[in-house]
Amino acid sequence: MQTKENIQNIAPYTAGVLKAGALKLASNENPLGPAPRALAVIRQNLDKLSLYPDGGCRALKAALAGHYGKTPESFLPGNGSDELFHFITGAFIRGGDRMLTSEVTFSEYTFATRLFAGLPEYAPLQDGKFHLAEIAGRITDKTRLIFLANPNNPTGTYFGAAEFAVFMQQVPEDVMVVIDEAYAEYVTAPDYPDSIRLLDDYKNLILTRTFSKIYGLAGLRIGYAVAAPEVIAYLNKTREPFNVNTLAQLAAAAALADTEFVQRSRENNEAGKKYLYAEFARLGLKYYPTQANFIFVYIQQDCLAAFQKLMELGVTVRPLQSFGVPDAIRVTIGTPEQNQKFIQALQEIL
Ligand SMILES: Cc1ncc(COP(=O)(O)O)c(C=O)c1O
Repeated sequence: MQTKENIQNIAPYTAGVLKAGALKLASNENPLGPAPRALAVIRQNLDKLSLYPDGGCRALKAALAGHYGKTPESFLPGNGSDELFHFITGAFIRGGDRMLTSEVTFSEYTFATRLFAGLPEYAPLQDGKFHLAEIAGRITDKTRLIFLANPNNPTGTYFGAAEFAVFMQQVPEDVMVVIDEAYAEYVTAPDYPDSIRLLDDYKNLILTRTFSKIYGLAGLRIGYAVAAPEVIAYLNKTREPFNVNTLAQLAAAAALADTEFVQRSRENNEAGKKYLYAEFARLGLKYYPTQANFIFVYIQQDCLAAFQKLMELGVTVRPLQSFGVPDAIRVTIGTPEQNQKFIQALQEIL
């Protein structure tokens, strides 16, 4: 077999270890479950599974267009945002091109870049935040793509509108900037960029969002890109005809309209945040204030050992050694009962 070096060098994705019956606070899923309106539509449409999906995702694009006040041509649904990262990277990275992002961020940007024989480069974080000035300072004529996570996974930190505006002044128009906004619906910071509106100002900007987080549909695999119609038309050339399944399309459109569920999910998240901040302070643990549905917390011990001990106590979290942080974990904000169970277990291992 003749293999490609860029693929040989990729470490395959290994799924997180789960103990049967354990409380899972490891993957930033919605603890309230799937959006009820989405579930109802799924149940009503199971008999459609003998037919191919709508390859144009027309109803979903129309729903997204209505939700955001943009044209349907501004959207490209994908099989999770992960698939969109592949479309984007495949569309803009040629062998040897550079992708710029930050250290301690979501690993899919690196994975997708390597898949297409691009070279990832990383700027350091500043106080757990994306350091946009450092990223801008690393742009060269080899840079084709920049991935920004806002809020960032695993730190939960964000950058604001003013900082982003300064950053964009330094980015050449032929460098594509992607903002991964998987957790946007949880954000409460008033200066969070109104990135949908910013698409009118920047033709080299792509946003990605997902139904996996606040809408509770991670198992269905559906996300979407938003960009200028000419960018979307270009990305659209790279996808399979039926990349988004029928139930995902229907459920996503229904979830978008489930404002009651979104509101309830936000309220649960805010209450959980408050409780966990207070408990971390009581336990003397440093954490980053979060704009997402998880918290990055330093636990003053080896995170892999802590992960094992917590799992034995029936709680799974994300140890962050693979992000280059050996003494921190990321915990998803759960229901009040789940948060209490996590704190009890954490207290025991400390
Ligand atoms: C920052 C970030 N982007 C994207 C994703 C993946 O989203 P999706 O389920 O839509 O592929 C995740 C999932 O954890 C994430 O944390």
